[in-house]
Amino acid sequence: MKNITVIGVGYVGLVTGTCFADMGNRVVCLDVNDERIANLQQGVMPIYEPGLEEMVRRNVSAGRLSFTTSYQDALNDPDAPAELVFIAVGTPEGVDGEADLRYVRSASESIAEVADHPTIIVNKSTVPVGTGDWVSDIVVHKQATTVPFSVVSNPEFLREGSAISDFLNPDRVVLGSLDRSAAECVAQLYFPLRAPIMLTDLRTAEMIKYASNAFLATKISFINEIANICEALGADVKEVAIGMGYDKRIGRAFLDAGLGYGGSCFPKDVSALAHMANVQGKHPQMLQAVMQINADQRRNVVTKVRDLTNGLENKSIGILGLAFKPNTDDIRESPGVDLVRMFQQEGALVKVYDPVAMQNAARVLKDVHLCEGPYELAEGCDAIVLTTEWNEFKNLDLLRVRRTMRLPIFIDGRNLYDPNAMYEMGFIYRGLGRGYGLPPLNGHSAKTDGTGNSAKQKNHPTPGTNDGK
Ligand code: NAD
Ligand code: UGA
Repeated sequence: MKNITVIGVGYVGLVTGTCFADMGNRVVCLDVNDERIANLQQGVMPIYEPGLEEMVRRNVSAGRLSFTTSYQDALNDPDAPAELVFIAVGTPEGVDGEADLRYVRSASESIAEVADHPTIIVNKSTVPVGTGDWVSDIVVHKQATTVPFSVVSNPEFLREGSAISDFLNPDRVVLGSLDRSAAECVAQLYFPLRAPIMLTDLRTAEMIKYASNAFLATKISFINEIANICEALGADVKEVAIGMGYDKRIGRAFLDAGLGYGGSCFPKDVSALAHMANVQGKHPQMLQAVMQINADQRRNVVTKVRDLTNGLENKSIGILGLAFKPNTDDIRESPGVDLVRMFQQEGALVKVYDPVAMQNAARVLKDVHLCEGPYELAEGCDAIVLTTEWNEFKNLDLLRVRRTMRLPIFIDGRNLYDPNAMYEMGFIYRGLGRGYGLPPLNGHSAKTDGTGNSAKQKNHPTPGTNDGK
């Protein structure tokens, strides 16, 4: 059992603190946001994360988990002084893509000013390479009297929506430090998870996190590029991804083509890595392409809708999904939210619905019609764009949706539905990278089935020929 303080009660901090408490440790979670802490003290979660509320409640009742806004209380409880202090504050995108470290700085300063006994400062926030050394410098300069401390980098790899399970079943635990015994002390915390634990130096640990996120983002942009080529050539990217994924060297994960990656991490982390490279005089060409392709995926959807609706001015567009992915209420860098703004810029009237993220979206979106459900959203729409593959959308009564739309245009930004079934229901349906609804390569117009969709694959050219014969 260890005494732990976790700084920041966002997606990472609250999950980390709660899981460590569940593993039998005594954890104090601290945040500067009074409202978040007051709510947590009443059992109200600041975020939507499946399973979290129940786990928090259980550990609070057991006396292992508590919440405070006071660094003094969180660090220096005479009965249980914090041995390990995790920093899990935000590191949002700053100027020119650089990570904004102001919250890490302020948390580090507070630790230095308050801690009255030796601690291990464990950085869980995603921070640029070299930040561990920078945190050490801050602490040294801010301490009124010298109190020994060590810094360990412990990047987090959980995903929103499956955060608890990811945290408790990690593929690996990475610990970077110049102080081996400090890293080993943190490693003990993770022993019960029976995951591979990698001990390395601070900077390497920090880079492992960025390289991992950048690689996953690259897989997504790669498959989106393939999707665009599939679409032009009449192939189906979903099947291509399956076919590629059987190769163990490639793997099926993160090859879902669609609207691209959003969220609070991939966009900012790829930018931050590119920024680090640029500062060092390197030219991160692949990272630039990854970002460009990702931005294009959203623009391409607007183009698709504009073409099908003959302009967007005064058209009614429904956006189905605002969270950046299912099972979260997080709308940071969400394709759905971005698309709302892009459609509005072209004069469209936008209706939105999301099962969980409506409150967050209402705070940032202006002049949108907030709908209570997908069927209200469909009424009178000229086009619907599905942006988040929520379970709730998998079994919609699509005929009902189709019947109430003004035009039956459906853009499936996550390739959730079967194109043939959608045609049969009378939709003008477009997935991304699914090769349907396009004229063949030789420029002859495709046979159509009266829905604006070309008849299925048979109208597409034979691979390897230029004229489709
Ligand atoms: P978040 O924005 O959800 O939460 C950050 C919290 O830190 C907020 O509640 C904020 O009030 C608090 N905070 C800010 N400054 C503080 C201070 N000085 N003292 C105390 N509290 C302070 O952030 P998040 O999504 O949990 O991400 C945290 C870090 O973890 C980021 O670096 C992120 O890149 C990384 N990360 C996030 C995820 C994820 O899925 N969200 C996964 C892995 C890593
Ligand atoms: C991601 C990583 O998966 C985590 O390992 C990492 O810890 C986290 O970032 C972080 O550093 O914060 P997360 O952003 O929660 O986790 O969600 P993902 O499941 O990775 O999805 C990210 C985005 O990529 C979503 O918008 C999702 O729709 C999109 N995506 C994902 C695709 O477009 N295609 C895919 O095949 C997979």
